[in-house]
Amino acid sequence: MSNNPSHTKEWAALKKHAQTLRKNHLNQLFEQDKERFNTLSASFDGLFFDYSKQRVTSQTINKLCDLLVIQNFEQKRAAMFEGERINLTEDRAVMHTALRRPKGDSVLVDGKNIMPEIHNTLEKMEKFSKSVRAGHYTGATGKKFEHVVSIGIGGSDLGPRLVSRALKTNANTVKTSFVTNIDSDDILYTLNQCNPETTLFVVISKSFKTQETIVNAKTAVDWLQASLPKGSDYSKHFIAVSSNINAVQEFGISSENIFPMWDWVNGRFSLWSAVGLPICLQHGFEEFKALLNGAYAMDKHFLNAPIAQNIPVLMALIGIWNRNFLEHRTLAVLPYAEKLLHFPAYLQQLEMESNGKMIDLDNQQITDYVTNPILFGEVGTNGQHSFYQLFHQGSHIIPCDFIGIIEDEDPSQERHKILLSNMMAQAQAFMQGRSIPNEPYRYFEGNRPSSTLLLNKIDAYHLGMLIALYEHKCFTQGVVWNINSFDQFGVELGKELSLKLQNGDLTGADNSTKGLYSRIHKTTE
Ligand code: F6P
Repeated sequence: MSNNPSHTKEWAALKKHAQTLRKNHLNQLFEQDKERFNTLSASFDGLFFDYSKQRVTSQTINKLCDLLVIQNFEQKRAAMFEGERINLTEDRAVMHTALRRPKGDSVLVDGKNIMPEIHNTLEKMEKFSKSVRAGHYTGATGKKFEHVVSIGIGGSDLGPRLVSRALKTNANTVKTSFVTNIDSDDILYTLNQCNPETTLFVVISKSFKTQETIVNAKTAVDWLQASLPKGSDYSKHFIAVSSNINAVQEFGISSENIFPMWDWVNGRFSLWSAVGLPICLQHGFEEFKALLNGAYAMDKHFLNAPIAQNIPVLMALIGIWNRNFLEHRTLAVLPYAEKLLHFPAYLQQLEMESNGKMIDLDNQQITDYVTNPILFGEVGTNGQHSFYQLFHQGSHIIPCDFIGIIEDEDPSQERHKILLSNMMAQAQAFMQGRSIPNEPYRYFEGNRPSSTLLLNKIDAYHLGMLIALYEHKCFTQGVVWNINSFDQFGVELGKELSLKLQNGDLTGADNSTKGLYSRIHKTTE
């Protein structure tokens, strides 16, 4: 039996409902229902979600919930939390949620309780980060580490990079840099700011095969060997986080300096594992623990809250409504918080690598409905002075997620007031629009949908909640779209062709690629 959601009467009912609702401007919906803000909002533990500016009614949400039922959402959610092998193409369980569960819990993967190894690793992370921060574990010349350089890419970079920037710094914060790109500019720029005697490298790669990461790590080894006093043990400056222990050892990192990762955690969901080690080193283990606690609170909310109050599920359903029924191709995530500078980039990988797919769980090509929108974003107010023109008056409608933080450290509070006024004003303008007689170029159609997420504050706990919220939104959408959110075969072809070109192998290449190759390698005049 096919699990194609678009072949169901529930999908057809939503199509019909969309045709009716399209006729209403959001302004009318607010006029018709004075309680709209109260009805179409939900809150949980310092988080408030307002979706009243989306082009939905309670009836829309009810109809969208029918999709959850036909796609066996509750069973699939339970299967993920319980360690079933829901990543069918790679035949793996998907256990990032286990990483934030308390020590005493039992989670079985293939009959084995994985909680002891998770907590042993957490203990190792705690011990090691405390030792580095206290100056007990030192560099080869006995000096305290003052700079951590994290080398990794994709899921082995974006999570720690996001959290590193988002958490409050103080006198105990250790300077931390991130290197990702194969472009030598990235690592050379960073190494220029490092003192070899006091720099600790954390090489993060689940596979330990990712070319960018391995090449950058080798550059770091060469740099250390060339700049430390002769005969120094440079290996003290290298820590690895990986599931490929053999490859790490071959690279020359000793086994006591390796922190494990597991098959059952995908890169883009791995922040909660030892991938978070740079956060422990930079901000302290307690902050990392608070991040896990926040994510765990969101897990329980996702598992237990009824749909009408279940923020990740509501967010997912609204996204499906905008994508599949109002036919919007894009989603903009707009945090009005400099601390969330890297959140749009983090979500780009999370959502587009998870749900940017057109083969379904029945191995059929998806031809009659669409999957993930293109996600992009920018911190407020920067985007206002760049691409918001198109948001307000362009021919595309871009649904937006605004994110605002209520409590801020701004000493005068004046800037914070300006910041959040801008956020509210933009959402208001998108929705209400404006028309001035005889000045068509000043016409704002309005009716442009957005949600607003308000966080009481942005500490480690609430940040953990926020990230887990989007993880669960992503999972829920994958269930409705009937796709495997946990593989990423789409990244393979480009990697393979790049290796061929690196070896000068042009077999099978088109004339454009051959022409570019010749120009780059100056093989023609
Ligand atoms: O190429 C994509 C990808 O495999 C991501 O899924 C992953 O997060 C990233 O590369 C890094 O992979 P690794 O941790 O194995 O270096």
